Amino acid sequence: MVKKYVFGTPFETEAVICDMEVCKDNPQIGSISVQDGFRFEYKINDMDVIYGLGEANRGINKRGYIYVSDCSDDPEHTEGKISLYGAHNFIIISGKENVGLFFDYPSKLTFDIGYTRHDELKVFCDRADLYVYVITGESAYDITKQFRRIIGRSYIPPKFAFGFGQSRWGYRTRKDFDDVVKGYRDNNIPLDMLYLDIDYMQDYKDFTTNEENFPDFKEFVDSLKAQNVHPVPIIDAGVKIEDGYDIYEEGKEKGYFCKREDGTDFVAAVWPGWTHFPDVLNKDAREWFGSKYKRLIDQGVDAFWNDMNEPAIFYTEEGVAALDKAIHNYVEGNDICVIEDIINTANAVPAEIKQCMQNLQNNEEDYKRFYHNIDGKRVRHDLVHNLYGYNMTRAAGEAFEKIAPDKRILMFSRSSYIGMHRYGGVWTGDNKSWWSHILLNLKMMPSLNMCGFLYTGADIGGFGDNTTRDLLLRWLALGVFTPLMRNHTALGTRNQECYRFEDIEDFRHVIGVRYRLIPYLYSEYMKAALNDDMYFKPLGFVYPDDKMAIETEDQLMLGNEIMIAPVYVQNTSGRHVYLPEEMKFIKFMPDGTIYEQLLDKGHHYVEIALNEVPLFIRKDKCIPVAEAAQSVPEIKWDELKYIGYEEAEYELYND
Ligand code: NOJ
Repeated sequence: MVKKYVFGTPFETEAVICDMEVCKDNPQIGSISVQDGFRFEYKINDMDVIYGLGEANRGINKRGYIYVSDCSDDPEHTEGKISLYGAHNFIIISGKENVGLFFDYPSKLTFDIGYTRHDELKVFCDRADLYVYVITGESAYDITKQFRRIIGRSYIPPKFAFGFGQSRWGYRTRKDFDDVVKGYRDNNIPLDMLYLDIDYMQDYKDFTTNEENFPDFKEFVDSLKAQNVHPVPIIDAGVKIEDGYDIYEEGKEKGYFCKREDGTDFVAAVWPGWTHFPDVLNKDAREWFGSKYKRLIDQGVDAFWNDMNEPAIFYTEEGVAALDKAIHNYVEGNDICVIEDIINTANAVPAEIKQCMQNLQNNEEDYKRFYHNIDGKRVRHDLVHNLYGYNMTRAAGEAFEKIAPDKRILMFSRSSYIGMHRYGGVWTGDNKSWWSHILLNLKMMPSLNMCGFLYTGADIGGFGDNTTRDLLLRWLALGVFTPLMRNHTALGTRNQECYRFEDIEDFRHVIGVRYRLIPYLYSEYMKAALNDDMYFKPLGFVYPDDKMAIETEDQLMLGNEIMIAPVYVQNTSGRHVYLPEEMKFIKFMPDGTIYEQLLDKGHHYVEIALNEVPLFIRKDKCIPVAEAAQSVPEIKWDELKYIGYEEAEYELYND
């Protein structure tokens, strides 16, 4: 049962789309106070597990840490980080009682989950203006499905989006892109998508293409598509301020950019230099910005990724002025010898100047300096901060329905809030080439599914830092199962395309397994989307009475038939795995054969070589497997074979 409670005057985020009466009774769970902001407190039992929070740090069980919903452009996803790019305020307390809680609040919201006191859950924010949804049910899984029903159907991407994609920040010229496709095709490594990072644009201007590198962009798109490769251009939040750039001029004239308090357009620096942010929370501005995707769609593009939409700010005029003042004050207040000393000594920047420099990027004060115009009402940005990425992606999604109503267009975003799951997927942003980030990738997946985000994945191989061959192979063996499977890396890192490493056949094989599994993965994705269900589940959702299953944080259930347990430790030839029931251990071997072994319920150590892809088929289930293909359209859906338990049946979804 779902109950809706209202406190103060909430902002209508449209995360929940189901009409519901507001309850007047007491929520009868924990205690709520609305003095000096909102505060929810709940006594947690030792056995309680807290699931949820979507794209957040740490475990599948969120207990024992503090998390702040505050969409942040922060590429250092170390264990101590409390805010990442998304804000997904749904949790489930699962134990003695099962209760789901969605705090529909678009600004900063803190979840102290047994951090200050191990037995207390506290959720609090500065303003007591929010909706709280309380969901009771027989299990965490049941509660998740009820929640998913009230937030509306998850986004469904085109089928090619289940293929493998290559990306890199740094591809610039037509030749750079053509070489990547050639590298994949010549080496027979499957490929369906090629990502275009910011350098395809003319001076980082949204919806433009670099004229020197792409004199005929449409011809470039056509040539890729003729090879079954879909280009996926990036779109950034900031619109470059430049006379003659029509999108800037139009937005300015129509008043569609976020404004300062004095009514002038707010200015922030991002990749293009000085930019304005389109006011995507304003319906008309959203429609206007969304309509611009048509420029690329008209040239044959059918896939996009939305970036920098927290929105990320490198610096503002106000921030630069504060730094300038600090430097002047320092210079005026100090003897010339002290200043010379500073210039000559690295890292000796005085604290007050250093502080101003650190404050330049993504400064909270800057988020208080601009306003949205929402139905004629001025709303300060920080009060609705977590809705920006959501509404930028919504702008695109709503436009796609008009521009290409009969077509599915690939769309995923960096920043998000619940509600955005109806318009696109998410990738988990700037991770690193660290082994721990394979595990973090795995742990985020079911939590994101709980919040409606089904089309999800991480930068495989790692975005920041240099990858290694073994890391990339192990990560790919997890990526084989994530709906979004993309190799992406940052400017300046070592080459990360799969054909750049020795023994290319290992990469061909591992990615090939993805294509062998697409009929199953697509079928399970579609069932999950159409039934408000999960694609990835924590083991505890399927085996709620099995303590060991509940505590397993490095394996996932995928669809209704399989369990996955990737290797995420360097220099290991296998891993420990827990089976909550008898299962068939399957390995896709590099010679194309499929290894099968029946394993009993319990603990096992399984050998998994670098070039093998493991999975486990649940008792009395089977899955379809295709032959490997070079691209999604080449998969032979009418020649599937089934592996797993012999008498089992599988209901295949295809369209
Ligand atoms: C930040 C994004 O997270 C990353 O994926 C991208 O490569 C860079 N922006 C450059 O566009």
